[in-house]
Amino acid sequence: MAIKKILVLTSGGDSPGMNAAIRAVVRTGHHFGMEVIGCKSGFQGLIDQNLIPLEPDSVANCIQMGGTILKAGRCLDFFKKEIRDQCRAFIKQKQIDGMVVIGGNGSFKGAALLSEEGGPPIIGIPGSIDNDIHHTEYTIGFDTARNTALAAIDNIRDTASSHDRNFLVEVMGRNSGFLALDVGIAGGAEVIILPEFPISIDKLAEKIKAPRRHKQSSIIVVAEADQPGRSVQIAETLSRLTEAQYRVCILGHTQRGGSPSLLDRKIASMMGYHAVKNLLDGESHKMIGMYQNNLALQPLPDPTLGPRILTERELIDLNEVLCS
Ligand code: F6P
Repeated sequence: MAIKKILVLTSGGDSPGMNAAIRAVVRTGHHFGMEVIGCKSGFQGLIDQNLIPLEPDSVANCIQMGGTILKAGRCLDFFKKEIRDQCRAFIKQKQIDGMVVIGGNGSFKGAALLSEEGGPPIIGIPGSIDNDIHHTEYTIGFDTARNTALAAIDNIRDTASSHDRNFLVEVMGRNSGFLALDVGIAGGAEVIILPEFPISIDKLAEKIKAPRRHKQSSIIVVAEADQPGRSVQIAETLSRLTEAQYRVCILGHTQRGGSPSLLDRKIASMMGYHAVKNLLDGESHKMIGMYQNNLALQPLPDPTLGPRILTERELIDLNEVLCS
């Protein structure tokens, strides 16, 4: 089937670099003579029939912007079959021959259902600050988020060291520790608390009390582990066990915003280009993944697998040596 009209949407939590991906989809689509339509606010835009034409000019000056010009959101209604049926009919009525879905695990689940039920060919582009999608070692936004968190940790270290204070810095990542591990290592954290390798509070207290080069301040990076704010509770318990004080800094949504890094812009641009090329080549129900620093066409992840999580201890062991 010739692909003449494609639709692009950004869904789930936004991530820096999504605009670069939209831009690449729009410009590549037009290069190959296609009409490109944007769907506003993720799958909600299909329900609300909120579409906009996207011309090459529509995406001028957005490559450096955080967020997403198409807006994003988590649309629980899209998991209802009758709603998807209505959306599929709408897509058909609009004569859309292909879709590019930019988003995370929930978005790919919606995309897979739509495509399995007779929707148009769909190619996914992984976009999430969590880097937690199977079949890809990289998701757009991860690099910017880890640099944002790292800059915050560097600032905190200055004041921690001046005041001889201990800090718990909580980073996002939902159920996965990729963000926490990277910023912990790069920020020189004394301890990194990860959902994949839990540590008992007594062990943690022991670790913190162990003498370390007469150092009076410390940075402990805590992954949110799908319980945002949990570092407050950890700090209270640690205070009791170690008789020391802990300041808490929850970085939260600061990690989701900001101008995308070079890496995110470049990978998003490459993924956008390849998503459209693969639709043209007749591919569907796949995503553009990254494997050993090369782009690779991958199946959409099986939603029953849950998020990708850390499985190797190697970098955690390395950090323990470096911070001893
Ligand atoms: O998936 C991206 C993410 O930022 C997670 O790290 C975080 O747990 C979650 O989204 C927060 O979601 P919301 O913006 O809906 O509060």
